[in-house]
Parts: sequence; structure tokens; C-alpha cells
Amino acid sequence: MEVTFTLPFSQGEDQIWDNVIKPALVPSVTSEAMQILYYGCTEILNNANDHSNGTEVSISIVVDESEVRLMIEDDGIGLFQKLQSETKDSDPVSVALNLVKGGLTTDPARHSGEGLFFSSRIFNTFLVESRYVFGQISGKWLLVPTKRTRGTKVTMRLDRNCTLPLEDFFAQYAPSTDDFMFTQTSIPVVLAQTSNALISRSQAKRLTYRLERFKKVVLDFTGVDRVGRAFVDELFRVWALEHPSTELSVLGANSEISLLIQTAQRA
Ligand SMILES: Nc1ncnc2c1ncn2[C@@H]1O[C@H](COP(=O)(O)OP(=O)(O)O)[C@@H](O)[C@H]1O
Ligand SMILES: [Mg+2]
Repeated sequence: MEVTFTLPFSQGEDQIWDNVIKPALVPSVTSEAMQILYYGCTEILNNANDHSNGTEVSISIVVDESEVRLMIEDDGIGLFQKLQSETKDSDPVSVALNLVKGGLTTDPARHSGEGLFFSSRIFNTFLVESRYVFGQISGKWLLVPTKRTRGTKVTMRLDRNCTLPLEDFFAQYAPSTDDFMFTQTSIPVVLAQTSNALISRSQAKRLTYRLERFKKVVLDFTGVDRVGRAFVDELFRVWALEHPSTELSVLGANSEISLLIQTAQRA
């Protein structure tokens, strides 16, 4: 199914969900999948409406044997273009890292910068395309350039039989013990690694930028083969000592990286 709406919406995104998208999904998905699709769809539609400055958004829905595939595409400025110009940071790696940490918004008075954080993790595949393709496919994170010059296209895929309650997913990052505040994050370190290996203090600083707002941070080294001593020292000794109220933990590190981290933490 494919539908197009004019921007800004004449109705709320929840109306578009109720009247157009939800009917196309009933009875193909579990109630848990429906909750997740509702969340993702309304967040991405709201972004197109509030942030893109475009004139049109198109939604395409495909339901096959095992999954729902949703594509939402606007013809506006483009997510990377917008973030690179408004944050005055032209480096796409910084932009991607700030998105993946969560809490990044260009409109703090009216938004919280959580939509892409949560949506990008809950789907089996979540990709944003605008100048770069950014997101994850089955948990593998990527950031690669594209030829797209305008607009933003978001692709979300979800298992039709998904049984994960949305609330349980949120609780991993916004636990009831912290009054459901967004206090915990995780960072796929592989996103910080472009053509250059992770060796320098400045590369580590891209990871730690704005990280002190969180109580707990998981650094996920999956897909990273090698890191340098200065990079590790900056993260696990210098930054950790300066920010004792943020707890850093490590996931997916190979034995060599684990040893380097332990050495830095002991120093
Ligand atoms: N479709 C889009 N077009 C342009 N910029 C976008 C789009 N979607 C998101 N953005 C940018 O990405 C930022 C983060 O989006 P999100 O995580 O949903 O947070 P929020 O909407 O609360 O600001 C937005 O503040 C905006 O700058
Ligand atoms: Mg949003």
C-alpha cells in the first residue's frame, strides 16, 4: 500500500495511524508488534512534519510472510543536512554518534530528542537515508554515504510475530527506578570507526561528548577489531575519572581490547 500526505499535516499523525496505517496491518501482526509500529510510525511522521520543511510525505507498507516493512519518505531538507548545519558540526560521524546516544534535538523547546534513539533500536532493521545511510540491520550498525541530496527516507522492518512489550523495551533505557527518565544508553562504538582505526584522544572525545547526562552507558565494541592506547586511556581513565556519576560498562570487546581497557582502568 502506498499513500501520500501534504505537509504540514491537516490532521495529527495519530489520525493517519488510526485511519490509514493501522487498518492495513490488522490482523497480520501481534498486539506487541502493533504497539511498536504505532510508536515508530508516529515518531517518524512527526519528524517529517516538524523538522523536514518538506511539502509531501509518502508512506509505503508491505506485509509479507514474516515481517512488516514500512517506508516513510519526505521531500524536505534531509536529516543529515539539517543536523550538520544546525549543530554546526559537519562531521557525519559526530552526528551519527550523537543520534545513537540519544537526546539530540534541534528544537529543544518542543522536542526531547528521543524518537530516533528508541525507534532505531526497537525495529529489526531501521535505516535513515539522507546524504548518508545510518541505522542498523539486524543489530549491525552502519553509516555510509549516499547520492541522495534531498529529503529523508526511513525504512523500518519488524517481525510480525514480535512479542516484546514496548514498555519492557523502554525500561532498558528509562527504568522505573529512575522515574522512567532516559538515564541509560548504549553506543555501538563501531560507528566511531570510519576509514581510520580508533586510536586518538579526539576520536574518544566524539564518543564522550554529552555522555555525562546519562547514569549508565554501555560501550558496545562489537565489530571493532583494534583500538589504540590513547583512545582507551581517554575513555576509561581520563573521562571516567572526571565523570564519576556516569557508570561505563563494556560489551562485545575482544580479548586484546578488554585487556587494554582493564589496564587503563587500573592506571
Ligand atoms: N525528516 C527529518 N528531516 C529533517 N530533520 C530531521 C528529520 N527527522 C529528524 N530530524 C532531525 O533529527 C533530530 C532528532 O530527531 P528525533 O530523535 O525524532 O528527536 P526530536 O524530534 O525530539 O527532535 C531532530 O531534532 C531534527 O533535527
Ligand atoms: Mg522526533
